[in-house]
Amino acid sequence: MSEEQRGDGDRDRVIAGNWKMHHGPAQGQAFVEALPEPPEGVRVLLFPPAVTLPALHASVRSSGLPIGLGIQNLHHEVSGAFTGEVSAEQAAEAGAECALVGHSERRQLFGETLDETARKVGAAYRAGLTPVLCVGETLAERSQGRLEEVLDRQLDAVFSPPTLREQSRELEVLVAYEPVWAIGTGQTATPDDADEAHRFIRARLGELLGEAHARRISILYGGSVKPANASELLAVPDVDGVLVGGASLDPRSFAAIAASE
Ligand code: 13P
Repeated sequence: MSEEQRGDGDRDRVIAGNWKMHHGPAQGQAFVEALPEPPEGVRVLLFPPAVTLPALHASVRSSGLPIGLGIQNLHHEVSGAFTGEVSAEQAAEAGAECALVGHSERRQLFGETLDETARKVGAAYRAGLTPVLCVGETLAERSQGRLEEVLDRQLDAVFSPPTLREQSRELEVLVAYEPVWAIGTGQTATPDDADEAHRFIRARLGELLGEAHARRISILYGGSVKPANASELLAVPDVDGVLVGGASLDPRSFAAIAASE
């Protein structure tokens, strides 16, 4: 969807599930069969492993459920001798409409650099995918009082280069704040922590892309989101949705999060 089609202040509530390296094609199909219809007005996205994407795409289509699919990572080139990699164009052909970029596991475990995140966002735009840029600080960075510096660096890498800045004003982009210390640890950011970080991100997006545009970008929170804490996080004004890892693997808990007030 182009940004012109979206009204000012008209931000989607997005409930996204990042399956990481879980659920092969058969489990993906079983998940869709067990998933209740999401409530009206909620945009549901699932990010399965790349090999699960085509089967999941087929089951979502036959179920008629309004679920969008995405890829968890991509290579910035269109094609080439890059063993083991998947391009944005290939992901789109397999049924993806979105792409996670810069997930902390990519940054930390696979050494993804700031430059690479910028190139991947450009590749997503080129293929017509909506990038979901993940940003967030480690526990060490947070305890050193470097939250804002880290978020700045991660946002600047993508939204400062002139071409990407222009594209990010014209095409849809989502941002996910995922504090690394809250991922898979059971330790969730408090609503106050999320409020502080999301407000900072929106203000910085305003400086980089213009305030009117920044107001239209959905910013998701991720990190140990569960049915029991989703409502209080979603109640934070600048939290427009959640990016769920572990609790998105079970259709019942994912549906319960999607149905949060
Ligand atoms: P958990 O919900 O398992 O903490 O994972 C969060 C995450 O990394 C989503 O991308």
